[in-house]
Amino acid sequence: MEEPAFAKINLALHVRSREDDGYHRIETLFAFAEEGDRLHAEPADTLTLALCGPFAGQLGEENLVLRAAHAVRRAYDIGSGAALTLEKNLPVASGIGGGSADAAAALRLLPRLWGVEASQDDMTQIARALGSDVPACLHSHMVRGEGRGDILSSQDGSGLSGMPLLLVNPGVALATSDVFRAWDGLDRGPMPAAAPLVTALDGRNDLEAPAVGLVPLIGRVLDMLHGTSAVLSRMSGSGATCFALFEREEERDRARDLIQVQSPGWWQLATRLR
Ligand code: C5P
Repeated sequence: MEEPAFAKINLALHVRSREDDGYHRIETLFAFAEEGDRLHAEPADTLTLALCGPFAGQLGEENLVLRAAHAVRRAYDIGSGAALTLEKNLPVASGIGGGSADAAAALRLLPRLWGVEASQDDMTQIARALGSDVPACLHSHMVRGEGRGDILSSQDGSGLSGMPLLLVNPGVALATSDVFRAWDGLDRGPMPAAAPLVTALDGRNDLEAPAVGLVPLIGRVLDMLHGTSAVLSRMSGSGATCFALFEREEERDRARDLIQVQSPGWWQLATRLR
């Protein structure tokens, strides 16, 4: 059995306040790419995880997929295991979901493998305990997030589905906590409550400036994307991956080719919005 772990992007991300527990209250519009990592599972007596794919080497011991699997086993009192293989196609610690999308894929896949009727409420609760982005990744369609990003409200994203999307990462890993900590504490106002593209265009990513402060190279990526014919270009999440949305695939591919020539070491994924 196999389950895709779609790359996540934040079309807008407004940071409103720093809470006493150190987390931040945000408003964000999540969207998903058609591509990402892939999680494969076979029935087995014990729970194991093998890694493959271009970014397998960057993953540490502490893996959200195994934590998700253990949580499902505990919740439904399951005795059997699973031989899991994660194909890591997305760069690690890069603002596009990665570990959260992988964990969410495990939460969709394992109840199927183990033949349990998992309730949406249980899965959401497990997802929330695994990380702020995991509930949105469980959904994997456009959705608005509040609170830590884990309190979701529906958003019809079908109008943007299929829109050409380019993801660019300059090869620098950034810890989410470091970027949030570097935020200046200034509330720049709420995310617009409008149609998704208007929300995205009128919105912003408040983590962009702190991330660029930590890794100036992100500014270079953004300058390059701003110089293309993209409808919108912005950093996703806490970075360092930036994204650009285009009207036509040819425009996206032209931007990709240009970046490939100018910065051949950067990771790129030419895909579309789900
Ligand atoms: O929820 P998650 O474990 O993915 O968050 C990782 C880190 O990012 C947290 O430890 C916290 O430092 C930071 N964070 C935050 N505010 C959020 C989400 C994450 O400060 N809304």
